[in-house]
Amino acid sequence: MKGLYGRLVGAYAILLAMLLIGLGIVLGQFFPFFYKSLEAPTSTTYTIYLIVTLVIAFILSMLIAMRMLLNYAKPIDDITVVASKIAEGEAVDWTHHPRLHYYEDDLAYAIKEIAGNIEEISAKRGIEKDRLKTLIESMGSGLLMFGRGGTVRLVNGMFRKTFGYENVEIIGQTISEVGLPHEIEKLIEDVFMTEQRIEIQICVQEATFSVSGAPVIGNHGNWLGIVVVIHDITELVHLEEVRKDFVANVSHELRTPITSIKGFAETLLSGALEDPEVSRNFLEIIHKESDRLHLVIDDLLILSGVERTGFKLNYTEVNLNHVMEEAIQLVSVALEEKHMTVDFNPSTIYKISGDSGRIIQIFVNLLSNAITYSQEDKAIRIQMENLPEEILVIIEDEGIGIEATELPRLFERFYRVDRARSRDSGGTGLGLAIVKHLVEAHEGTVEVYSKPSIGTAFYIKFPIEQ
Ligand SMILES: Nc1ncnc2c1ncn2[C@@H]1O[C@H](COP(=O)(O)OP(=O)(O)OP(=O)(O)O)[C@@H](O)[C@H]1O
Ligand SMILES: [Mg+2]
Repeated sequence: MKGLYGRLVGAYAILLAMLLIGLGIVLGQFFPFFYKSLEAPTSTTYTIYLIVTLVIAFILSMLIAMRMLLNYAKPIDDITVVASKIAEGEAVDWTHHPRLHYYEDDLAYAIKEIAGNIEEISAKRGIEKDRLKTLIESMGSGLLMFGRGGTVRLVNGMFRKTFGYENVEIIGQTISEVGLPHEIEKLIEDVFMTEQRIEIQICVQEATFSVSGAPVIGNHGNWLGIVVVIHDITELVHLEEVRKDFVANVSHELRTPITSIKGFAETLLSGALEDPEVSRNFLEIIHKESDRLHLVIDDLLILSGVERTGFKLNYTEVNLNHVMEEAIQLVSVALEEKHMTVDFNPSTIYKISGDSGRIIQIFVNLLSNAITYSQEDKAIRIQMENLPEEILVIIEDEGIGIEATELPRLFERFYRVDRARSRDSGGTGLGLAIVKHLVEAHEGTVEVYSKPSIGTAFYIKFPIEQ
């Protein structure tokens, strides 16, 4: 028999047996007093009685002792079993230990509390572990962690995706086994050596990444490894380039008319003013250039207004037929100057939900381009069509057309196919950028189809309902 209960019962049995045997021997010593008067058979009977009595006494007192010990020692055995189960991290089924329920003594109670706390703590740990895992997996950046031994301890899905380790297990591999780009390997080695945070930018194929490596220091200042975080900053780098381009373009666009105004004003001041013919000529140029400046600045203001987050359209029901007629009216002077005609004969009324002021702006910009980039006496054809959920507007000219290679960049700010000619025609190169932004603000799309010397067609689709 194992356990405290078994050992106590064993010890008690031995002790009791020794006591009773001693008692038997002592009592047996009294028999010679009776021998003289007693006959031999009677003496044997006494001895048997004595032995039987002692055995009965042994059994009875053992039963009583066992019953008593069961109450005191058995719960301790049960607690021992429970405690060793807790120590092994097994779940405790309290219904298997009825005595612990029954004997709510301090020890059983304390053990129950400990078991409860441990269960709660490990449940919490489990939840936290899951939460951390989800967080690491779902973060938009790539994460890689090396342990103290220089092998990979943790890697998330984004990192695997970025560097093509989706089907390869890299946990447990060393830096050189993983086969990272050379710059990242060097960064990791540098962080190992210097124990400092290091950040670099690298290009992998078309994408740009910001890679940051830092040592992981535990609560007690001990070194646990290093962590590498990778962000895809391709879009950011592109935006930065666009911004630099934009600033360069704006400066250029503003400098050209200003240089010309300055030059003519200086010539006037240094004597040309005396000649009324020349000064009138120069002043007209200055006037024209300042008009250009005005135009560029106006267009820039419109564009920045449209691009601003929070830009809102004034939605109303818009009759596209009316809006198109108004736009044609606005460009009628230019049309007449070039003896051009507009062919617009809609068979029904086309209505959408939109901002009529902005839609006029779109149409005027496209019509002005059709006029500007066509020779005299040509025609512009306008068609409208009902699609299932959209209305398609086509503005088509018979103008100079655009080379296929130029089409992808056509809607960029300041982009002009023939810079010199477009500037001569007074263009700023912002017209189509404004068109695109305004159409997109309506959740529509704009496409261009063109053939040099044949003509250009702009297809604009507006959703009917917003
Ligand atoms: N209908 C067209 N036919 C031929 N080329 C066109 C046409 N529309 C636009 N383009 C080309 O696309 C370029 C960009 O047009 P966009 O309207 O953005 O600028 P712009 O006309 O030069 O200046 P503005 O801002 O004053 O309109 C033009 O410079 C021109 O070369
Ligand atoms: Mg234009």
